[in-house]
Amino acid sequence: MSAGKNILCIGAGYVGGPTMTVIAAKCPEYRVTVVDIDKNKIEAWNSDRLPIYEPGLDELVHRTRNKNLYFSSDIEKGIREADIIFVSVNTPTKTFGQGAGMAADLQYWEKTARQILANAEGRKVIVEKSTLPVRTAAAMKRIFNGKTHDASLEVVSNPEFLAEGTAIRDLEKPDRVLIGSRETAEGIRAREEIVAIYAHWVPREKIIESNVWSSELSKLASNAFLAQRISSINSFSALCEATEADIDQVAYAIGTDSRIGPDFLKASVGFGGSCFRKDILNLVYICQGYGLDAVADYWRSVVEMNEWQEQRFVRNMLSSLFNTVAGKRIALFGFAFKANTGDTRESPAIYVARGLLEERAHVVISDPKALENARKDLEDESENVTFETDPYKAAEGAHAIAILTEWDLYKDLDYEKIFQTMVHPAFIFDGRNILDHRKLFSLGYNVFGIGKPFLKH
Ligand code: NAD
Ligand code: UGA
Repeated sequence: MSAGKNILCIGAGYVGGPTMTVIAAKCPEYRVTVVDIDKNKIEAWNSDRLPIYEPGLDELVHRTRNKNLYFSSDIEKGIREADIIFVSVNTPTKTFGQGAGMAADLQYWEKTARQILANAEGRKVIVEKSTLPVRTAAAMKRIFNGKTHDASLEVVSNPEFLAEGTAIRDLEKPDRVLIGSRETAEGIRAREEIVAIYAHWVPREKIIESNVWSSELSKLASNAFLAQRISSINSFSALCEATEADIDQVAYAIGTDSRIGPDFLKASVGFGGSCFRKDILNLVYICQGYGLDAVADYWRSVVEMNEWQEQRFVRNMLSSLFNTVAGKRIALFGFAFKANTGDTRESPAIYVARGLLEERAHVVISDPKALENARKDLEDESENVTFETDPYKAAEGAHAIAILTEWDLYKDLDYEKIFQTMVHPAFIFDGRNILDHRKLFSLGYNVFGIGKPFLKH
């Protein structure tokens, strides 16, 4: 094991923060520094109130911070001192110009590359941690080749597969770690330095090595496959509703085939999160660029099915509520894109809230961790939206409840008590299929699940 290296991570977000915390915890002889242009974020990482919620993260940060883990705003100093630089900046969908709405916006990425170039001296390994279009490493290498003085910068791809809400567990016990590099002596040497980091805690057979292009593309392919499973099961949920089949029974029946497997077959109001949509659209754009229109169309349909599922959910709510929600109080239980995170990026709850607001409903949003982000997401709609931490209060006087995030706490509420405080007939739309629908029906609710028989009084 190589001792005493300085690791820098540029980008202190959902990936950079947790990933570097775990590396610091597992590799006590490395000095790990995380930098960001957002000074408030760095302040938060140095405080008792971390900028993101992730189970197990607080404890790990407290154990490592200011021992061998540092959060700083001095990016240039960080670059100068580092042996290995992970780049974990955001790569959102482009909103302007060519490829708008599809291609990855690489402006943060390129700025970082240029900043590394301007400040680096000597030999450094640059690690692509962000999710990037295949062949980005080549572009980065070209930028680095512009250096006139002494620096040798080798680019390695090491995409991140953690999921939010389980980030620490995923990082501590990954299914695999993927490291791609050029297959030259310099490339292999750089790859081995990154392997050496993970080998502190990841079994060697789970560290996969590849060429750099395979590594970049595998990340996009991986997210595309995962999202495709959700769109596939969601497409069947619509068919279940039309035929009185039950989607959970169908998912179980197909998931027990060991070739298919049980994961990622939970029908829902739709997938959210910062990455599935953006990464698939980026994949579509790349395929189009290579003239592979059939491949592009195939993957685009995964995103289209997801949009359709979200729309269908709002349409079902509207038609069940006698085709009008104008002036009606509707409680949304959950706003995060999944449980155990405060992240609301691309959350289906945003789409559902906006759909109901367009129909002039009064929307009350409850969530244990995501209200701060929900406020920002809907700040233009503040007149008709209320935020309420207590789900019992959120449901008071409501015509309907929609479950939009599968937080455990929503499973254990006293729905009998809630029923008494709602306007009748009372409706529950379970966008995550986490409640006992028969029981709710027996309490008096009209219950609508995803891919389930509608239980109407
Ligand atoms: P994020 O927005 O939470 O964090 C990115 C950070 O980079 C921000 O804090 C931003 O201020 C900082 N930044 C941007 N430009 C910078 C610059 N020039 N210098 C310094 N800091 C800069 O994003 P994220 O969710 O952590 O995602 C980062 C990358 O990882 C993306 O490419 C994403 O696709 C990928 N990824 C994300 C996840 C996830 O679960 N969120 C999982 C796997 C991969
Ligand atoms: C996803 C991948 O799971 C990670 O491997 C990947 O690293 C990450 O994207 C990324 O690149 O950003 P994440 O978006 O954090 O992770 O969370 P997931 O657990 O994948 O859930 C995504 C969305 O799909 C959520 O809205 C979730 O509720 C939904 N989902 C998930 C379903 O509707 N059904 C399922 O069966 C599984």
